Amino acid sequence: MKERHSSKPLGSTEEALHRIETPCGFSSTADEVAEGIDLSGKRAMVTGGSSGLGIETARSLAAAGAEVTLAVRNTDAGARVAADITASTGNDRVRVARLDLVDRTSIWCVPYFFVGSCHFRRL
Ligand SMILES: NC(=O)c1ccc[n+]([C@@H]2O[C@H](COP(=O)([O-])OP(=O)(O)OC[C@H]3O[C@@H](n4cnc5c(N)ncnc54)[C@H](OP(=O)(O)O)[C@@H]3O)[C@@H](O)[C@H]2O)c1
Repeated sequence: MKERHSSKPLGSTEEALHRIETPCGFSSTADEVAEGIDLSGKRAMVTGGSSGLGIETARSLAAAGAEVTLAVRNTDAGARVAADITASTGNDRVRVARLDLVDRTSIWCVPYFFVGSCHFRRL
């Protein structure tokens, strides 16, 4: 794999920190950012993954081998996007979870998506 990201010590005061250098900039696409990176065995969650930038971010993560969860309000739209991403990347580990970021119950349920069912009662 070609080394695209390098890590150099910052200096004496912050020896524990490292500057991350990347060839990517404002005009870089998600595919360019992910180029040469193997995300096999990694999990990614993309909020807003059923439209706009979220779709292409999720697609790039899936193309790099990650298991991707689209965290969306509209799960029907999410399912359509997941199928499209699987078709275009060959990665069938693209899932959909319901998430509305203005609904605390919905947010609390997200971790349970990974470990089991969620049955919080709305108060
Ligand atoms: N910094 C920059 O240069 C730059 C450039 C472009 C965009 N952006 C930002 O990047 C973000 C995405 O842009 P975009 O063009 O992809 O916008 P978009 O197509 O409108 O997508 C926004 C996504 O957020 C979701 N969303 C909105 N409210 C939500 C909520 N309460 N809970 C869960 N999901 C919610 C929407 O879901 P629904 O489909 O259900 O509505 C939609 O999927 C925006 O915040 C935009 O301002 C920044």
